[in-house]
Amino acid sequence: MRVAMIGTGYVGLVSGACFADFGHDVICVDKDEAKIQRLRDGKMPIYEPGLEALVARNVEAGRLSFATTYSEAVGGADAVFIAVGTPSRRGDGYADLTYVYAATEEIAALIDGFTVVVTKSTVPVGTGDEIEAILKRLRPDAQFAVVSNPEFLREGAAIEDFKRPDRVVVGMEDERARPVMAELYRPLNLNESPLLYVDRRSSELIKYASNAFLAMKITFINEIADLCEAVGADVQQVSRGVGLDKRIGSKFLHAGPGYGGSCFPKDTSALVRTAHDARAPLNLVETTIRVNEARKKAMAGKVADALAGDLNGKTVGVLGLTFKPNTDDMRDAPSLQIIPALQAMGATVQAYDPEGHEARQLLRDVDFKNGPYEALEGADCALIITEWDEFRALDLDRVKAVMRRPLVVDLRNIYRAEELRPRGFTYFSVGRS
Ligand SMILES: NC(=O)c1ccc[n+]([C@@H]2O[C@H](COP(=O)([O-])OP(=O)(O)OC[C@H]3O[C@@H](n4cnc5c(N)ncnc54)[C@H](O)[C@@H]3O)[C@@H](O)[C@H]2O)c1
Repeated sequence: MRVAMIGTGYVGLVSGACFADFGHDVICVDKDEAKIQRLRDGKMPIYEPGLEALVARNVEAGRLSFATTYSEAVGGADAVFIAVGTPSRRGDGYADLTYVYAATEEIAALIDGFTVVVTKSTVPVGTGDEIEAILKRLRPDAQFAVVSNPEFLREGAAIEDFKRPDRVVVGMEDERARPVMAELYRPLNLNESPLLYVDRRSSELIKYASNAFLAMKITFINEIADLCEAVGADVQQVSRGVGLDKRIGSKFLHAGPGYGGSCFPKDTSALVRTAHDARAPLNLVETTIRVNEARKKAMAGKVADALAGDLNGKTVGVLGLTFKPNTDDMRDAPSLQIIPALQAMGATVQAYDPEGHEARQLLRDVDFKNGPYEALEGADCALIITEWDEFRALDLDRVKAVMRRPLVVDLRNIYRAEELRPRGFTYFSVGRS
């Protein structure tokens, strides 16, 4: 099959490279010329484990290429995927569909023969109808079907998730799209990943409902963590005991500083807007957003408490800035709220993250270091915000030697009090006394 992937970001690049690896001919398009040039030079614009080798293999095989204009990719494609960003609209929390509609208009001009236009971007219910209306208006002569095919991959494990998904959701209103979608995802039959055919509006909602549920699950265990601290229980033991119940499941039950990232904050917010407009408010999701925002802000207070309530003149060494490990993505990372709050309370911050280079543009007055021990040099507190593997087995003697005082606030529970306290550390975690 011939595939055009419009938008070559975290989702478009991974999806395009994986489709090429399935044997399809893929052209990835992006408006960002610098990004496309980097890709043509064999350099990855993002950090995602395994991506560089996957892209190189498929470029070399002649199945994957990159373009800055639609004309090279859309005409003659069997499927055109829209994988552009749908950020939160400034001020009101609706999904900003500017990029989606701009892409649709450019696609319209170039449709040639029966083409399936597939929305991979996360878009609110009814967007597929609007895309169809735009295409019909601009190209009444064109043969096309508009399909919703939301993406569920996780950054940091994106290739594995794309190739072995729990399910592939295909929302369609036109039977002509079915054989094209089935052929595109045929290799997944071997992995027994179910293709779930639903109507287009249900498909659009499945994506938002899934993300809202996961955000709620994280927020639930975070509140249970607070209760654990108050009553002397251990959230990790509670989480394990709860998660072993198959009706609940153990994933997304890890207490932490609150969810962030490129999806949950904007998608929960957009879903709440949709629900309000439909006069079917989602109180659980609204509360989740509120509790999570408050939690991120409260994390700086946890550091202040650990330092007897006074951060003036104190140095905090931060380990981890990205919203989760194994990605360079800084979008809505908890660190972006926690660090300014620490600074506002008088702390000096020095920080290290293996891949979160964009933090240099997003955070002010932070002394960025090149390794974990450098970030902890002279610090009054080590603050673990992101659980990168390289922070899990630090040389604790060295940590103690470089810090001004041996105090650790571990927002990801990657250490245990039993291993740190006997070595002379003061240790605070999340949801454990
Ligand atoms: N990042 C994730 O983990 C993830 C997971 C599932 C779904 N999604 C959804 O996938 C979509 C894309 O997310 P992302 O993280 O890949 O975004 P991204 O910002 O990394 O990539 C979007 C790309 O689209 C390009 N673009 C914008 N307008 C364009 C246009 N008119 N024509 C061509 N290219 C254009 C941008 O230059 C950018 O490179 C969003 O709707 C997001 O919610 C993301």
